[in-house]
Amino acid sequence: MPGVIRLQTEVPGPQSRALLARRAEAVPRGVPSVTPIAVVHADGAVLTDADGNRLIDFAGGIGVVNTGHRHPSVVSAVRSQLDQFAHVCFPVSTYEPYVALAERLNHVTPGTHAKRTFLLNSGAEAVENAVKVARAFTGRQAVVCFEHGFHGRTNLAMALTSKVVPYKKGFGPFAPEVYRIPFPYCYRCGEVAAQADGQSSAQCCLASVERLELIFACTVDPDSVAAIIMELELGEGGFVPAPREYVSALAVFAQQHGILFIADEIQTGFGRTGKLFASEHYGLVPDIIITAKSLAGGLPLAAVTGRADVLEAAPPGGLGGTYGGNPLACAAALAVLDIMEAEQLPARAARMGERIRARFCQWAARHVCIGDVRGLGAMIGMELVRDRESKIPDKALTGRLQAAALERGVVLLSSGTYGNTVRVLAPLSTSDAIMDEGLDVLEQALEAVAPASHP
Ligand SMILES: Cc1ncc(COP(=O)(O)O)c(C=O)c1O
Repeated sequence: MPGVIRLQTEVPGPQSRALLARRAEAVPRGVPSVTPIAVVHADGAVLTDADGNRLIDFAGGIGVVNTGHRHPSVVSAVRSQLDQFAHVCFPVSTYEPYVALAERLNHVTPGTHAKRTFLLNSGAEAVENAVKVARAFTGRQAVVCFEHGFHGRTNLAMALTSKVVPYKKGFGPFAPEVYRIPFPYCYRCGEVAAQADGQSSAQCCLASVERLELIFACTVDPDSVAAIIMELELGEGGFVPAPREYVSALAVFAQQHGILFIADEIQTGFGRTGKLFASEHYGLVPDIIITAKSLAGGLPLAAVTGRADVLEAAPPGGLGGTYGGNPLACAAALAVLDIMEAEQLPARAARMGERIRARFCQWAARHVCIGDVRGLGAMIGMELVRDRESKIPDKALTGRLQAAALERGVVLLSSGTYGNTVRVLAPLSTSDAIMDEGLDVLEQALEAVAPASHP
């Protein structure tokens, strides 16, 4: 069976290289360019570049196209909205797609309590606004975030983000009243023996209310904290899922101290982890849940959804913006929610995750550079190290693997504070055949850059 990858030139080819050269003269280098290809077309899980090469997309626009590129229902919903109107500004005039989307998000997010939703343009904007409403409701100022967490590039989101280079260095001063506590990153915690089989091992040592009391005793008075913001599985931080017992202890601790729990589901949301939201794996009902990325199938949209009493704390005019909840993006998001249900994408993500995990674990049995395989559903990553004893992160090897995959026709992303975790964010609609073709390429790429130690 011929696969979908078709390489007409080396990757990147001359047309891609030419556009990247123009880009370098027109766009500042601070806007990263993770792969050196120029895309002219995308469909499902397949990209076509400017040289006519067809590549498998394991990046999915960084987790934005869980429903696949240009899903026909998304395309037709956006087209028909465009035939009506493209913008009137929601704070000026009300339109149905915004209200319908708020209703749908209030319904599908965890918890049956009364909720409200308002819409914004980007993940970072949702982060900022979630903190705003948490502060308005509690009358408190402090916000607690996590080591290895990522929440965006605006001023407060940058303060909440952990990794210094490239996200923070030189960009201060940062927003005040932000406190950071350790993330339960069991593979790198000295107290726990990690395994490379994808199963988390012993009990998480941070997972008790007593331990959290101690951490806060050295960090910030919990009674001055408005909210804790957490990614239940770190995205940019290296695809590290928090242990269930840790999240339970944290939720109890937060409730005891009147602290709101903000779940940042911008990367974990919309089926990626095998459930519509990662919170569902934890039995967690966040006070506020923030979404963006795959919410609108490729159009810019973000949402803050949460307890009605919390979200009603901000006065009229305190929330919103010119473009937030653009009607084209709302139409796309309503189509995305329909597709999630009709194509049962969360269940598909769970099966896709098993397929990826099985291959990663097979490779881990042969390649000692694979230190850990982990993740929920299809949010799977493998952490590359010099060797399993030292666990020294191997960022250079990760870069070589990405380059080797690209040369062979697969677009692949890395992540992690140490830049050494390979992550798969392929559309959840990717067929088994395309997934297998992509994984075969990845296996060849791995063999090319780090030959197996035991065949
Ligand atoms: C967990 C998380 N929060 C926030 C953001 C910021 O989103 P945006 O880039 O849309 O501002 C991201 C983006 O990667 C993210 O993964």
